[in-house]
Amino acid sequence: MNKTILCIGAGYVGGPTMAIIADNCPDYKVIVVDKNEARIKAWQSDILPIYEPGLDEVVKRTRGKNLFFSTDIFGGINEADIIFVSVNTPTKTFGAGAGKAADLQYWEKTARDIIEHSSHDKIVVEKSTLPVRTAAAMQRILQSNTKGLNFEVISNPEFMAEGTAVTDLQHPDRVLIGSMDTPTGQAALQRMIDIYTHWVPREKIKTTNIWSSELSKLVSNAMLAQRISSVNSISALCEKTDANILEVSAAMGLDSRIGSKFLKASIGFGGSCFKKDILNLVYLSEFYGLPEVAAYWEQVVLINDYQERRFVAKICNKMFNTIASKKIAVFGFAFKADTGDTRESPAIYVCKMLLEERAKLAIHDPKALENAMLDLADETGDITYCNDPYEAVKGAHCIAVLTDWKDFLKYDFRRIYELMEKPAFIFDGRNLLDHKAMFELGFNVYPLGQPALSHLK
Ligand code: NAD
Ligand code: UGA
Repeated sequence: MNKTILCIGAGYVGGPTMAIIADNCPDYKVIVVDKNEARIKAWQSDILPIYEPGLDEVVKRTRGKNLFFSTDIFGGINEADIIFVSVNTPTKTFGAGAGKAADLQYWEKTARDIIEHSSHDKIVVEKSTLPVRTAAAMQRILQSNTKGLNFEVISNPEFMAEGTAVTDLQHPDRVLIGSMDTPTGQAALQRMIDIYTHWVPREKIKTTNIWSSELSKLVSNAMLAQRISSVNSISALCEKTDANILEVSAAMGLDSRIGSKFLKASIGFGGSCFKKDILNLVYLSEFYGLPEVAAYWEQVVLINDYQERRFVAKICNKMFNTIASKKIAVFGFAFKADTGDTRESPAIYVCKMLLEERAKLAIHDPKALENAMLDLADETGDITYCNDPYEAVKGAHCIAVLTDWKDFLKYDFRRIYELMEKPAFIFDGRNLLDHKAMFELGFNVYPLGQPALSHLK
């Protein structure tokens, strides 16, 4: 049996996913290809293109043994008979469905590359997150080949989260595999199960029809994001009523039917997928003539935008209704802790709104400063980027905590307070810091969804 796996797309999903497969399946050869040469070079080097705890070790163990990174996409297609496609599927920015539908141009291009460079039958695995029924289009394009080849499309969406990719992939809650109910579909399904049972218990491998698998991925992300928007909407109500969102979330989460995870109030969810996947769900609902369903899910995104705006409005309001020319130390730019990824980070939108108010920004982040510079490259305001937190706070009027980096907890806040303008403010958009301790140091503290701790009368 041909035991060569190819993955097209060496991004946040393709790289770590294939490294874990290679590590657990020494009997398979795994090749990861990408059209982006710089990215492949980085995967071949000591400094990987993405930061994920534990990933360096896995790549070091497998690279050059049974894991290979290459730009030879066509050679890889020809060699492998299982091809994972993990290319990006961003939101469409043009034409019908602009702003909501998935842009499948990279996806279709890959299907056509596969046809052109194949000389034997293949299993094509949808690893990217895709609109439900993409497999039908994929199968149609692939079957249009004139070489008499059979291509079997499988849906195997990825549920890992950034920052915990290695543990999520090594110990998944479930592996979902959707296939066609045909003899060749079932044979392809078995080949997939054979790979995953190298390390995942069989009872965690769920098999479904291919459409359920595609839709389950979109809905899983939408449900997770919906929890965050729900709790964020209640954080606004807490601030009006002196209730405490931490206490409300904890009380709710104790109900085993609700569960305690994903109930942390924040300035909003970010990341490359939540917004795009919900908007995709909204588009699909509209497309299938279900406007009420579309409006329901769209509200999750609208509350997220509201939470970002609300945070900036509070900073302006509490700092005497103007932040023009005031220095704001921004602690954290990544969309969550333990990653350098800033895609759709709420920090981007919050910083842009602060700059519109003519604030001066000193941005500090342990891993994401390079990306922050790219994200704000077109902004004309006064922005500095500081590796050193103490440099960032020098002469600052307030600190805005935008990412939940645990590193911030180790900083010397007595020294920070001394370096800042007075009155000094903290707006904790992640409820990360010890607010009582900060208040005792002299800060006026504005947590999220909790009573403020202010020395100002
Ligand atoms: P990414 O942008 O990091 O990586 C995609 C890669 O595909 C890029 O390096 C790009 O150069 C390459 N590519 C695009 N078209 C190509 C082509 N025709 N030939 C060769 N290479 C090509 O994206 P990602 O974050 O890895 O996400 C990939 C998919 O997985 C998306 O659909 C996303 O929704 C989904 N997903 C992402 C995550 C996550 O945590 N980032 C988790 C689960 C699912
Ligand atoms: C998310 C999902 O958790 C993964 O299962 C999924 O595979 C992935 O999207 C994807 O399809 O891309 P990720 O975006 O990496 O993973 O990170 P999350 O941990 O889900 O966090 C997303 C955002 O929500 C972050 O900005 C985070 O700070 C925020 N968040 C999370 C909250 O504000 N509150 C919470 O309680 C949890």
